[in-house]
Amino acid sequence: MRKKIIAGNWKMNQTPSEAVDLVNTLKPLVKNEEVDVVFCVPAIDLLAAVETAKGSNIQIGAQNMYFEDKGAYTGEISPVMLAAAGIKYVILGHSERREYFAETNETVNKKMHKAFEHGITPIMCCGETLEQREQGVTMDFIRQQVKVGFLNITSEQAKTAVIAYEPIWAIGTGKTATTEQAQEVCKGIRMCIAEIYDASVAEAIRIQYGGSVNAETAPELFAQPDIDGGLVGGASLKPDFGKIVNYK
Ligand code: 13P
Repeated sequence: MRKKIIAGNWKMNQTPSEAVDLVNTLKPLVKNEEVDVVFCVPAIDLLAAVETAKGSNIQIGAQNMYFEDKGAYTGEISPVMLAAAGIKYVILGHSERREYFAETNETVNKKMHKAFEHGITPIMCCGETLEQREQGVTMDFIRQQVKVGFLNITSEQAKTAVIAYEPIWAIGTGKTATTEQAQEVCKGIRMCIAEIYDASVAEAIRIQYGGSVNAETAPELFAQPDIDGGLVGGASLKPDFGKIVNYK
């Protein structure tokens, strides 16, 4: 039985002092031992968030990282730095990074390797545009993202990875995918993992849904057989996130 994983993606929100306040506000609301709870915060908030979350069930994650350990890469943050700061998760290949910061399947794959090398669990994002959905190429596009993203990642590593299915048309739009749409794609992703590896990896890997998840839509989404939790944007900045974590 896979343990659910519910992660908040704060995106570019909260100053360090606001981050401390938000972690303190949410700490008592997100208690649920049946779920892994992750807050993916801006880089500048990471240390304060780790410190504030100590002793709670909240794990802190990053929203991006570079694929080199150190060097002349102005503005980047390395996996060595994240691991040293106590960071356990990193979002890789979010559609906003692909769209605005030229992230590709190939750079995502390099980052996947580096995350595993340093003991950080990747939350690898994938998802189609509205145009791709209307053209009927949703699964083709996502299979490519998953296959290239996981290139040369071992079975043992893949078993511990998290994939977030986030249809781009559902992000920040208030337009959640229907439960059927979300389950269908998450199932397709699991089948793709079974093809790349085998049934045991497909059974172990956790697949989240993301895109306008809120306290109302979470219970039905998370009850689906192939949806192992969510990656939550807007609603992760509010007390509502407590309701999402305690969706049952
Ligand atoms: P929203 O929940 O705000 O739609 O954002 C989803 C998302 O992009 C999480 O990574």
